[in-house]
Amino acid sequence: MQSLMQKLTPSLRADRVNPELMRLINTILDASKDIAISVSQGALAGILGSTQHENVQGETQKKLDVIANQIIKDALLKNPQVRALASEEEDDVVAGSPTGAYVVAFDPLDGSSNIDINGQIGTIFTIYKARNDVPANSELQFQQQGKQQVCAGYVLYGASTLLVITTGGPTRCFTLDSKSNQFLLTVPELAIAKDTQEFAVNMANQRFWNSRFKDYISDLISGETGIRKKRFNMRWNAAMVGDVHRLLIRGGIFMYPSDSRDPKQPAKLRLLYEANPMAMLVENAGGKAFNESERILDIVPTTLHQRVPVIMGSANEVDSCLIYLR
Ligand code: F6P
Repeated sequence: MQSLMQKLTPSLRADRVNPELMRLINTILDASKDIAISVSQGALAGILGSTQHENVQGETQKKLDVIANQIIKDALLKNPQVRALASEEEDDVVAGSPTGAYVVAFDPLDGSSNIDINGQIGTIFTIYKARNDVPANSELQFQQQGKQQVCAGYVLYGASTLLVITTGGPTRCFTLDSKSNQFLLTVPELAIAKDTQEFAVNMANQRFWNSRFKDYISDLISGETGIRKKRFNMRWNAAMVGDVHRLLIRGGIFMYPSDSRDPKQPAKLRLLYEANPMAMLVENAGGKAFNESERILDIVPTTLHQRVPVIMGSANEVDSCLIYLR
């Protein structure tokens, strides 16, 4: 069975990915295979627990955040196609090769709070063409709209290690075969169901939401006798990578709306290496991805670690949510 499955490179070739971009994608994936080994070794590899440091986001870094960041960073800086990189764990842009054709942004370990409980975690990445009109280490390299991404993907370190990727065509899913150490194509074209009865949101933030979003969630949970006339189920992984994977497989809506917890930080998720790559994967699988007013992929970024509200998933349910928010 496995030998009949397509490997990544022929699949990328079929999607007309050029050889340089293909090598760059493989650089990221080789790094992710090293991270997958550390993840599976867990306590045996000494990767659990926290460091004493905070990242630029003000979050205490987990040991695995730091390890994963270093693995990907080292690999990317060896690839001559990388003009610059940006990471959740790096305060500033890191310059690479001056002649590199691409810039790469990544969240080395999404869902860090799941590391110590053996839950779902993942690496999210995005690739853009490098800009020739600004220096390699300029933040402007990354101030490109999400619709300009040439590749978006994540590696989910779960029960299996999975790669979900798009290079502009379909969103495809590969499974890491531990025998050959190759990603093999297991879902050639993910298609998100238009309708759903499942939502993902952190309900503990309810008191900080605006009244329109509160009304939407209240109508969702009112069940068969409520205005929606159907029963909704709720799931929350506390790892965007796991929640988005679920909706790519069986439909759903994932929401991290704006809230009033901290006036300096009205949203939680990062545009560059969380919202944008996930939005491209979701849209290319037939879903929709919005902040509360516009398509995520149309947002013009203003800062490197910018945060945005996120509403994404099954197209008809995203539309329903947006009606309340308007
Ligand atoms: O970026 C951070 C992240 O861990 C996402 O992966 C996840 O969706 C969210 O934060 C979880 O937030 P909370 O801690 O509010 O559940």
